[in-house]
Amino acid sequence: MFSRYKKEAATPAAKAAPAAAAAAAAAAPAPEEAAPKVVMRKPAPRASAMAAPADKERKRKERLGEIKLELHKELLNNLNLSALESASEQDLRHEINAIASEVLQERAIVLNREERVTLNQELFDEVTGLGPLEPLLKDETISDILINGPHQIFVERNGKLQLSDTNFKDEKHLLRIIDKIVSAVGRRVDESNPYVDARLQDGSRFNAMVPPIAVDGSLVSIRKFKKDKLGIDDLVNFGAFSEEMAAYLQAAVSTRLNVIVSGGTGSGKTTTLNALSSFIDNSERILTIEDTAELQLQQIHVGRMESRPPNVEGKGEVSPRDCLKNALRMRPDRIIVGETRGEEVIDMLQAMNTGHDGSMTTIHANNPRDGIARLENMIAMAGIEMPIKAVRSQISSAVNLIVQASRLQDGSRRMTSITEITGMEGDVISMQEVFRFQRTGLGPENKIMGHFTATGVRSHFSERFRLWGYDLPPSIYEPTAG
Ligand SMILES: Nc1ncnc2c1ncn2[C@@H]1O[C@H](COP(=O)(O)OP(=O)(O)OP(=O)(O)O)[C@@H](O)[C@H]1O
Ligand SMILES: [Mg+2]
Repeated sequence: MFSRYKKEAATPAAKAAPAAAAAAAAAAPAPEEAAPKVVMRKPAPRASAMAAPADKERKRKERLGEIKLELHKELLNNLNLSALESASEQDLRHEINAIASEVLQERAIVLNREERVTLNQELFDEVTGLGPLEPLLKDETISDILINGPHQIFVERNGKLQLSDTNFKDEKHLLRIIDKIVSAVGRRVDESNPYVDARLQDGSRFNAMVPPIAVDGSLVSIRKFKKDKLGIDDLVNFGAFSEEMAAYLQAAVSTRLNVIVSGGTGSGKTTTLNALSSFIDNSERILTIEDTAELQLQQIHVGRMESRPPNVEGKGEVSPRDCLKNALRMRPDRIIVGETRGEEVIDMLQAMNTGHDGSMTTIHANNPRDGIARLENMIAMAGIEMPIKAVRSQISSAVNLIVQASRLQDGSRRMTSITEITGMEGDVISMQEVFRFQRTGLGPENKIMGHFTATGVRSHFSERFRLWGYDLPPSIYEPTAG
């Protein structure tokens, strides 16, 4: 079934033109059995597209924006910037309010009280912080901020992307804020070095690309740091997976199966990896390797590593592979690699195969089968010349479990499959799905309906679970009806 198509009777378009449809049907030669006509469904209007503020509101904002810019220039001229650092917040606010009042009076601009308060706060943010980004960064309900040039800022709340009504004055303003952010963490971005990926001081992940590579203005994405990452219970409560799946995953991680979390961008891979790590015993020595340190492990014995890209002169790189090779000499019980995307795959598989079982990583793939293909590709790209059968046998003996994370069309994030790797059949890696998210349809507001179910297959590792003291009841593998 293609969800984009619907039967004629159900579409408003068909209802609107019944006469034309009837005439067309009469003119057409009589079909042997009237096949249902399919009509393309109009895309539902997006909430984000409707978020444009009313005209009056927009004009008011524009006016405020202009005043703010002028005042900002004025402030920069009048404030002693070097004294700023030592000034208390109260003094600074006082100073800003005074200069603002003066300028407004000089130009005979009248603002109401609310506008004054907003203006003063924005000026304060502009001088001391990150301007228009400041309220978005402070807003705890926002998890991601995506900027497409100065006039379009999208934010993600509860899994949904919305166009915010904040924007930058122009590209120069946006560039100034980007520069402020990256220089605070000792990085640089400009025409000759037009992109940067960094972890901010508060732990947020920051990526920016500036013109001319970004064609219509700088592109920025910020994944805000969440102090309390979602745990297993939160994820079960949010409907990301079922309690049975959680019990199964607990058995899998505790009995040291090697797990790969597969998923698309922003599908919840890191969140899942972090939650799975909570099942690791406190006595184990865990080493984590990430591009940007996001994982928050609760165990006491944790060593964290962050790889480093080359600097502007192309020097100083410490790749994930370098970290991984080094980690193997540091006597870990388990290794967790934030994301495997390149040549480090070889060392990861070897680690999984040789005594560091219970290791985990994520990969970028849309389903478990694709995940395996991704691993094969990474091995080929790393320049390892091995017959495909040997590659596959290496993968099948290293990886035990693939957990698929997905961000569905309605913005919800779910674990759509738990698939075990059971060995090789000829040249092919054999896999069995043990749990999955069974979609049943579309609910109101295009909400995806469905339920989690076992597939009816007993785990390939059930004997291992039993021997390790995780005696899961056979009923856990029975399919559930929605
Ligand atoms: N089940 C869930 N329910 C609600 N929000 C979730 C869920 N899983 C993850 N999130 C939120 O979604 C955002 C993206 O999650 P996460 O960083 O884990 O994704 P990712 O797949 O690792 O992304 P990337 O590909 O960018 O590394 C985060 O803000 C996270 O808090
Ligand atoms: Mg991630």
